[in-house]
Amino acid sequence: MTKFTVNDRPVEYKMDPQTPLLWALRDASNLTGTKYGCGVGDCGACMVLIDGEAIRSCLVTLGESEGRFVTTIEGISNDRSNPVQQAFVADNVPQCGYCISGIIIAANALLKQNNNPSDEDINAAITNLCRCGIYPRLRDSIKRAAR
Ligand code: FES
Repeated sequence: MTKFTVNDRPVEYKMDPQTPLLWALRDASNLTGTKYGCGVGDCGACMVLIDGEAIRSCLVTLGESEGRFVTTIEGISNDRSNPVQQAFVADNVPQCGYCISGIIIAANALLKQNNNPSDEDINAAITNLCRCGIYPRLRDSIKRAAR
């Protein structure tokens, strides 16, 4: 049994400790805002915060999550009060939307460290892939959220 905290609630998973965190969140906890894209750490659709750091949850096992604090997209913006989410809505940032929850997670981690990010800072922090190519308006909107 693996125990840790998800969105400020204690959770216990009776799954194989080698199970990727992504699948526990989606299948056992029904936190489906965390998306499956590639499963090999490339796309970033599966990003969550672990102890405040943006991490690709397909690369983290349940065993490695023991005792840590995990925050999913539902934990940071379920009520649409998150500044990044508000800026993304105001600026019509998403296109298909599939990558957006992971990008919101990464942007929140960035703004916690840097409240005045440059384009270069954003490019370095937002390594998520977006097939729609929203990167220019994404950068502008993250700067707006930082204000
Ligand atoms: Fe985890 Fe793509 S699904 S990085």
